[in-house]
Amino acid sequence: MGDQRHRIVIVGTGLVGSTFAYTLLLRELAEEIVLIDKNRAKAEGDALDLNHGIPLARPARIWAGDYPDCAGADIVVIAAGVAQRPGETRIDLLRRNVDVLREVLGHVVRHTERAILLVATNPVDVLSYAAWKLSGFPPERVIGSGTLLDSARFRYMIGTRLGVDPRSVHAYIVGEHGDTEVPVWSLATVGGVPVAAQTARDGTAGLPGGGLGPEEREAVFVSVRDAAYHIIAAKGATYYAIALALERICRSILRDERSVLTVSTLVRGEYGIDDVYLGLPAIVGRAGVEGRVHLPLAEDEVAALRRSAETLKGLIRSLAL
Ligand code: LAC
Repeated sequence: MGDQRHRIVIVGTGLVGSTFAYTLLLRELAEEIVLIDKNRAKAEGDALDLNHGIPLARPARIWAGDYPDCAGADIVVIAAGVAQRPGETRIDLLRRNVDVLREVLGHVVRHTERAILLVATNPVDVLSYAAWKLSGFPPERVIGSGTLLDSARFRYMIGTRLGVDPRSVHAYIVGEHGDTEVPVWSLATVGGVPVAAQTARDGTAGLPGGGLGPEEREAVFVSVRDAAYHIIAAKGATYYAIALALERICRSILRDERSVLTVSTLVRGEYGIDDVYLGLPAIVGRAGVEGRVHLPLAEDEVAALRRSAETLKGLIRSLAL
């Protein structure tokens, strides 16, 4: 990373924001981590707690700051807002969290015009669209965590069922980070072999156990789509995997990796969809979203993606941004 000091500002040091800060410390990604929260004592407490770990981790400057600190930020991560309560959907949070977003962005844009905005607050796709509109930043610099976490869950659950390292599973969830998300089974592979159960031309099973049959695929998808509800019912919130997803996005940006990640980005005509933020594979580098990977989706997958888009567009219209 050279001698450049990378600064990430985290707005909202609740469970997701503070776990993300901890993840940044462990992953040695940013030299400067700034914590902003309306509860100043919480931000200060988190900063102290993280700083005390530096001798056991690695050098970093971590402090409870304020919006002027965005002036030097490479990335401003927005994790502020209310979280789902048991039984709530992500969309139930929209009214409350769009007001939080409006207030936060009003401060942020007064101090930076060049940072990349990374939205984590739910409903993340609608709020990412709102962040783009409200900030006036170019869409490539307004990114949502999207379905990166869902795709990770998808890969984990496929890998677990097939008995292979989930990192060797290449599979996407696209669309809304929510109940209308879409599993791209047609392109899911392990070692280049399609996951959907089939045998190779010579009759041998392509994957352990022959891959996943229709019932198994449905069970995997339902467990991915509903994962957050179960975790929230069990422990009140999710924060570890989403923090890792946020770090993964920031790493691709700060190290200019140009990794393909299913972040939430503005869709402009692809798949017959326009003017909405959706989780789709994008090339993420130092300038933000630097390109797109266009998936040869099956017809049913395109139809489901369009339904997901329509759900979100209806919510966006309701905001009258
Ligand atoms: C989840 C939250 C981040 O899916 O929406 O865990």
